[in-house]
Amino acid sequence: MRISMNRRYSLSDHLIGHADNMLRTLFAPSSASRPSPAADINNRALEAWEKDEARRLMRVNHTGEVCAQALYQGQSLTARSPELREKFREAAEEENDHLAWCEDRIEDLDGQTSRLNPIFYIGSYAIGAFAGLLGDRASAAFLAETEYQVVDHLNRHLHRLPTADRKSYSVVKKMSEDELKHAKSAEQVGTLQLSEPAKGAMRLMSRIMTGTSYWV
Ligand SMILES: [Fe+2]
Ligand SMILES: [Fe+2]
Repeated sequence: MRISMNRRYSLSDHLIGHADNMLRTLFAPSSASRPSPAADINNRALEAWEKDEARRLMRVNHTGEVCAQALYQGQSLTARSPELREKFREAAEEENDHLAWCEDRIEDLDGQTSRLNPIFYIGSYAIGAFAGLLGDRASAAFLAETEYQVVDHLNRHLHRLPTADRKSYSVVKKMSEDELKHAKSAEQVGTLQLSEPAKGAMRLMSRIMTGTSYWV
């Protein structure tokens, strides 16, 4: 059944949709709308240590994308303007490609996604919803800062990935380009300047996520 575009959704409609998104993000295989950048790249056979390091780093990046889905969903729940809510929804779709590309790489590397993903999803959803409650401009500022920090993180991974794993490199490179685009797009909303302690707290949260999902 097709739902009318003019329909006004209630809070319970949104929450049901968000619960569905959470379950699909965490437990269903993701499918991308764009082909993976790794598709046309040929790797030589990776040595055991190279494979191990690459699968750990891609698991961290996959968890980052799980968090991105949750943040966008949380922010869209409490965003005031329908335009911003639509922006979050569109960006979440692009993030879904990242999720699927990381998932594919982890599978190719015989790895597993992080067992901590449900915890990170719920935590990120709550943070996103809280940011939304602070108002649209603050929420967009939070989003822009998140995306800039993700770009820095991904660019560090471009140096850490084993050089032989050109497939993972191409995925991370494309993700970094997309995240920069998301940051610029969020800034167009007329963002506020976040305080340095707020930015520091965000970096700390991200270090906890990256530090744990590298191992578990
Ligand atoms: Fe992403
Ligand atoms: Fe992004």
